[in-house]
Amino acid sequence: MTNRCTLQLTVLLCLTGAALSVNYGKLRFKLRSSNSACQTLLWQLITSPQHCLDDRMDFQIPRQVEQPQQFQKEEAMVVMYEMLQQIHTIFRRSFSNAGWNETIVEKLLEELDDQMDCLETALEEIKQEGKFPWENRTALRLKTYYLGILQYLKAKFYGRCAWTVVQVEIFRNVSFLNGLIGALQD
Ligand SMILES: *[C@@H]1O[C@H](CO)[C@@H](O)[C@H](O)[C@H]1NC(C)=O
Ligand SMILES: *[C@@H]1O[C@H](CO)[C@@H](O)[C@H](O)[C@H]1NC(C)=O
Ligand SMILES: *[C@@H]1O[C@H](CO)[C@@H](O)[C@H](O)[C@H]1NC(C)=O
Repeated sequence: MTNRCTLQLTVLLCLTGAALSVNYGKLRFKLRSSNSACQTLLWQLITSPQHCLDDRMDFQIPRQVEQPQQFQKEEAMVVMYEMLQQIHTIFRRSFSNAGWNETIVEKLLEELDDQMDCLETALEEIKQEGKFPWENRTALRLKTYYLGILQYLKAKFYGRCAWTVVQVEIFRNVSFLNGLIGALQD
């Protein structure tokens, strides 16, 4: 009886062990395809940015976040997760006022959710391996950056041009995410 228990426990531990290591190749592949879907969807949403040049705004990105190639993969994953979450919040919020095609926005939110799900699983695994990096000041700085975007939208009464400016900013951020995905090497 005791033996059987021990055996079961061993098997269980092995299985858990196997499930615990992150398959970065697979993760990169999933994130990349979902991220490029996001890019396409965002592109479809952006209309006539040339009319909105007067509304341009410099949303000062934290310097620490500017160079994706500097990141360790664990850190890259936390930054990505934070960005996706914040972008999700921005788009979920009052997009109905922006006169966008809701089908496209819903799809965009879904793609963002998918990426967050993948990352969540991987981050959970890293946490269990004790490789969780910090001290997440970077995440806090990102929150401030996205808060700035939300405040800008509010100050502009969520007007069309303000949204266009934000869409263009987010579109660039999604390209930046692509760079971060590249940091997820085994
Ligand atoms: C919204 O976008 C979808 C997919 O691109 C398209 O099939 C649909 O006709 C659009 N709806 C409106 C109201 O433009
Ligand atoms: C910082 O990381 C811890 C886990 O180590 C997490 O619980 C917390 O929510 C994070 N804080 C921010 C601001 O992301
Ligand atoms: C968002 O896009 C701007 C414009 O390219 C860029 O400067 C900034 O670094 C991006 N922010 C993030 C968090 O990627």
